[in-house]
Amino acid sequence: MGIAESGVNLAQGKLRVAVPFLIEQDWCAYTPEQHAVWKELVCRRMPQLREHACREYVEGFDIIGLREDKLPDLKAVSERLKPRTGWQSTPVSGFLPPDAFFEMLAARMFPTTTWLRGRESLEYTPEPDIFHDVFGHVPMHAHPVFGNFLQHYGQICAGLMHDPVALEKMGRVFWFTVEFGVIRQDGRLKVYGSGLISSHGECTRVLEGGAEIRDFDLDQVMNQEFDTGAMQPVLYAVESFEQVYEATKVAAARLG
Ligand SMILES: [Fe+2]
Repeated sequence: MGIAESGVNLAQGKLRVAVPFLIEQDWCAYTPEQHAVWKELVCRRMPQLREHACREYVEGFDIIGLREDKLPDLKAVSERLKPRTGWQSTPVSGFLPPDAFFEMLAARMFPTTTWLRGRESLEYTPEPDIFHDVFGHVPMHAHPVFGNFLQHYGQICAGLMHDPVALEKMGRVFWFTVEFGVIRQDGRLKVYGSGLISSHGECTRVLEGGAEIRDFDLDQVMNQEFDTGAMQPVLYAVESFEQVYEATKVAAARLG
């Protein structure tokens, strides 16, 4: 495919500051060893997640067509996702600066890394890889309310770039929902944050009672500092994804 028809080119119509970070995923370049590592990662997580992830995650996993035996082709993922919620899983070169990250969320394009961790770091990578980004995040984007929340979050933050204090507070909302969110469903605690979905050790620790679970409270969350390199001592449980969406709207009204 030439660049004229490529996803990069099509995406440029909606994006401005994120354009330099867009790449193509060279799916054919993944090696048998990388597909084997993906399979090991997925097979290690799914038994626990089928029982302890929220139902929207488990449904989303099937909706976007993830497979245990092959790394995902992001174009195929987006083709299944876009008709449902308008979201795409869009390949990027790595960490994005905040303005580019928020711009992509506001355009319903999830910035997705394409590299995969090696066998020596199955449990943890300091930077997100395709396992964290696609296996961890993207299934939730098939859920309409979560999808609306995440797009709105991006819009709000894009409008707060001049205000680092407000952005820090919004960053905490993201951390305690999108990355480390838990939800009560059917009288039990379920996980939906990508940091828990993609980490066997941390998720197990939470399910075994190793973190304090508080009811989600916007003020507390916006003032709760966190350490990205440590296991999370405190998490916040929501009752529904509507609650997360509404809380984000309240935060925007306060900070805007
Ligand atoms: Fe993440």
